[in-house]
Amino acid sequence: MALLPILHYPDPRLHTVAKPVAEVTPELRQLAADMAETMYAAPGIGLAATQVDRHIRLLVIDISEEKNRLHTFINPRILLKEGEIVHEEGCLSVPGIYDKVTRAEHIRVQATDLAGETFELEANGLMAICIQHEIDHLNGKVFVEYLSRLKQTRIKSKLSKQAREAM
Ligand code: NI
Repeated sequence: MALLPILHYPDPRLHTVAKPVAEVTPELRQLAADMAETMYAAPGIGLAATQVDRHIRLLVIDISEEKNRLHTFINPRILLKEGEIVHEEGCLSVPGIYDKVTRAEHIRVQATDLAGETFELEANGLMAICIQHEIDHLNGKVFVEYLSRLKQTRIKSKLSKQAREAM
């Protein structure tokens, strides 16, 4: 197990579109385990492979209080979106920034699990939000891109400044 470094916005690598996973290998299972460990340590409720600079369609999510409900999604695909929900989102790649984003309230998602089996899941509320947020990462999109240009510019300069000061 290993903690993986998380890319921070506005790192251009966060805009990479991830490629489908062709096969569930021991290496992929190891990456998923390392991503889960990294997510729990951060702490966060979701992490996409894109955020650890691995550009394949893999994400881990655990929204439970007890941190004992880990979901791993390989090649996730949203089959259905219904309703609307506004929620204040944050992101491990955009530390310290929280803002409201509108997403579908209810979704049905299809994905492959770590055993290589296809499954479908119905999700509502926070779970639905989290899945949509993480799939956006796989498509090279960070949640701040839903905000106004002005806010995006402010966030970029704030995080760039923090990164320079941390060097
Ligand atoms: Ni995120």
